[in-house]
Amino acid sequence: MTLLNKAKEFKQEHLLAFYDELSEEQRKNILSDIENIDFSLMKDLYENVACAKAQKGAECISPISCTDATVMAEDEKKRLYNKGLESLKKGKMMALTMAGGQGTRLGHTGPKGTYDIGLPSHKSLFEIQCCGLKKVSEEAGCKVLWYIMTSHINHAETVAFFEEHNYFDYGKENIVFFPQAMIPAMDKDGRILLESKYSVNKSPNGNGGLFSSLKQIGGFEELRKKGITRIFICGIDNCLVKMADPLFLGYFEEAGYKVAAKSFIKRTADEKAGVFCKKDGKPAVIEYTEIPSELAALQDENGVWVYGDTNVLNYIFDIDTAEFLATAGMPYHTAVKKLTHIDIATGEEAIIPDAYKFELFLFDAFTSIDDLGVFRIERTEEFAPVKNATGVDSAESAREMYMEIHKEEKENE
Ligand code: UD1
Repeated sequence: MTLLNKAKEFKQEHLLAFYDELSEEQRKNILSDIENIDFSLMKDLYENVACAKAQKGAECISPISCTDATVMAEDEKKRLYNKGLESLKKGKMMALTMAGGQGTRLGHTGPKGTYDIGLPSHKSLFEIQCCGLKKVSEEAGCKVLWYIMTSHINHAETVAFFEEHNYFDYGKENIVFFPQAMIPAMDKDGRILLESKYSVNKSPNGNGGLFSSLKQIGGFEELRKKGITRIFICGIDNCLVKMADPLFLGYFEEAGYKVAAKSFIKRTADEKAGVFCKKDGKPAVIEYTEIPSELAALQDENGVWVYGDTNVLNYIFDIDTAEFLATAGMPYHTAVKKLTHIDIATGEEAIIPDAYKFELFLFDAFTSIDDLGVFRIERTEEFAPVKNATGVDSAESAREMYMEIHKEEKENE
């Protein structure tokens, strides 16, 4: 069997350890899973990413400048807002929500977007975003097209949720779902893990898988046909996100950026969010999981964070740049995670405390461009993430912030 030889060549033949005891259907499943593995990539990730972590950090990190919208004059804001609105009226921008993540920290079993943060209206995170889109669409006089990136783990459930809620009356034709690619997990010895005797243990390949997955479904051609040239991107878990924000778009258009990103000033040195900077002179984000603590805590003579502009996870990309990035290649990051897998020796389910998971981060795309527009906004107005079950960045804290901002609509919330 050629697949077995291929697996053997990369010392992964254990993936077929249970082949003889599988049903026809199960055999098909494991063979298809194996066929879809890029073994050379996995070998490279194990040897040069997972095992080479200690060598990281050789880049030269320097601060990046931003446009501070928190101190911008009201009439200037209005002017930029109207400029963005004009562009929206021409149907130039679509919105894209990255909802392929697993939301493990929250402990919610379904897709994260289906989570009810406990508002009196019981709106889910998806519905909250949809309400934002309805509002801006009404102002623009046309529906802003909404793409939602799912993963193979939550795709069917996500689509069913929208179906069940009649697409929140936004119109089925205005919402497009597409799944992102998956990548296998490995153990400390570089062995790809099994999820069951007939399936490989795979996870979504990180939000940096966005543009290649969009390209795979022919998304760029579709968008061009519709005259869309800008992609507004956000995560699923910020319930104060300003969907397709005209002010942000106006700023993007005015400065002629290819990519722009919103920031806010972090509260503490170790806040669990990435910070903007330059790496070897190119715009970049250093993720909270990777920033050295002395860099995170660095302040200037006035007590201001040197790396204080924090990633809201809210971007606008020009479509040509996004399409270029779809094939540009990005670095993988490793996370060491507890995973359930099938122990090859016993054939039983077992917990592995230190498996390697690999992820692409969309913000790594910034290092391929010369200039990034960093747009600083007021944190309390636009950032209420739902990451954890309780405490900081939880449903409770997000709910309070949401209710405060939407005070005048309280009866309906
Ligand atoms: C993310 C940002 C961080 C930022 C913070 C703000 C990344 C890698 N990190 O951190 O810099 O300061 O938000 O809240 O972007 N997702 C997918 N597919 C995946 C993985 C994630 O669609 O394979 C989506 C998630 O559904 C979520 C978003 O990407 O909407 C970010 O998720 P996650 O990777 O957990 O990053 P955070 O730790 O939230």
